[in-house]
Amino acid sequence: MTLTRRLCLIIVALAWALPAGAKPSRPVAEAGIATAHPLATQAGEEIMAAGGNAFDAAVAISAALAVVEPFASGLGGGAFWLLHEAKGGRQTFVDAREVAPGAATRDMYLDELGKPRPGATLDGALAAGIPGQPAGLAYLAKRYGRLPLKKSLAPAIRYAEDGVEVTRGMELGLRFRAGAARNSPALAALYLPGGKALVAGDVVRYPDLARTLRRIAADGRDGFYRGPVAEQLVDGVRAGGGIWTLDDLARYEVIERQPIRASYRGMTIVSAPPPSAGGIALANVFQILSGYELGRLAPADRKHLTIEAMRRAYRDRAIYLGDPAFVSMPLDRLLSPYYADGQRISILMDRATPSIQLSGILPEPVAGTNTTHFSVLDRAGNRVAGTLSINTWFGSAFMPPGTGVILNNEMDDFSIKTGVPNGFDLIGTDANSIAPGKRMLSSMSPTFLESDRGVAILGTPGGSRIISMVLLAALAWSDGADAAAMVALKRYHHQYFPDVVAYEDGAFTPDEKAALEAKGHKLEPSERSYGNMQVVTWDRATGRVAAASDPRGGGDVTIY
Ligand code: DON
Repeated sequence: MTLTRRLCLIIVALAWALPAGAKPSRPVAEAGIATAHPLATQAGEEIMAAGGNAFDAAVAISAALAVVEPFASGLGGGAFWLLHEAKGGRQTFVDAREVAPGAATRDMYLDELGKPRPGATLDGALAAGIPGQPAGLAYLAKRYGRLPLKKSLAPAIRYAEDGVEVTRGMELGLRFRAGAARNSPALAALYLPGGKALVAGDVVRYPDLARTLRRIAADGRDGFYRGPVAEQLVDGVRAGGGIWTLDDLARYEVIERQPIRASYRGMTIVSAPPPSAGGIALANVFQILSGYELGRLAPADRKHLTIEAMRRAYRDRAIYLGDPAFVSMPLDRLLSPYYADGQRISILMDRATPSIQLSGILPEPVAGTNTTHFSVLDRAGNRVAGTLSINTWFGSAFMPPGTGVILNNEMDDFSIKTGVPNGFDLIGTDANSIAPGKRMLSSMSPTFLESDRGVAILGTPGGSRIISMVLLAALAWSDGADAAAMVALKRYHHQYFPDVVAYEDGAFTPDEKAALEAKGHKLEPSERSYGNMQVVTWDRATGRVAAASDPRGGGDVTIY
């Protein structure tokens, strides 16, 4: 098994402490880390062994992922970290999402006829938002860490200098993005030497990225957002047809937010607030489902109701949600149990509701993905769920020369025109239209589940499907599933439009398929697998910690 095909997870047997917010019983007997790459997990372990807490480990893991999984997340992208401090039980959400550059305009990706310019939000420097992750790393280390940033970034710097093996996943991603990468000489020099894409087993060294990381280690956020790195970024972006300015970088701000909380049958769900749609959509689905005795229903009916709840939650995502600094959202209404009561009235037990019959917006006809998630629990009971992204494989496939930084193509997460689907077929309205300094709506949903059973820390990549994957895993945990069962669960998904239920082989039995089709659902088998879920759980009765990595990612577990 090659390196990046292996997902890694480590349970570190350590000390005794109780996650705050949990009822006293057996304390945390172990600490756990689950990430999408063995070297990222090792980075977290190294930093904890050096006296760091879960938040230092999160910095080390996030930076390491930028080096070992550079096609999925990195310094050129954004991140959400959901935190739980054991002491006092405070929970907070650190938002280091990208923002639109100051010169961005609402219609910047449309031609004179108002039609979307193909590929404009996905390929090249114009597709990139102002990155948030470097500022987020400095923020996390300063506010929550015990160790200096320099220490927590050391493993990532070492990996970048020593070189990292190309994995099968990266090879596939490269094949997919080689066309766009050819337009970025700095990126092509790294991954397409002599015009030929690297293959699994090749080793890539990242001297420029190491230098950029060293600047951040020495100067904190200013090492990226001001001075020579900022100049290289802006020069490179502008030469590549982008619109960034030094001022855009200097003004970037990390924002701390209150997580969204919801409950379902004794389980509390703590998840991402806007500018992520995750927490609101999860809360809405759970409010709707709370009105049914799912356990008493036939499996096909249970799945029908879950699909109908997804349809309605994704509809509200499309219509109402965006950056809270720019749009006023009816969150009180969306989170109200009365609203869910109303939504249940429109759900029929024997028939799917065609999305077109729900008031809302209609998609215009149109047309890969990557991101990463990790979960950490330390020996004191501190927790981090982190989801990090540059959006699709290799982001915009653009690297400003000299920086080693692959820029995101997160501008595609805006709604460039009402009803025009993005790369994940998501549609939106003005609530998520482009404006200077605005954060684009996300589906990334780092989440905690808490109940009498204990705690689960989870999340996954997967674009629009992130929310439904977290939802299904949370429902399974509420029904007693363990970490391994949560990541292995066969998944299904409905996102309002397209009005189909995408499903993995095994998600429905033949009888369930027949029953759902009889109700009018259009079932569509997924062509490829989605998701790379990472889960860490703590069991209240035994004090034991378990962790699991999604088998779709290749899975590798280490316990000690
Ligand atoms: O923020 C979002 O919702 C997307 N940019 C996430 C992209 C993603 O998960 C791609 N993964 N497969």
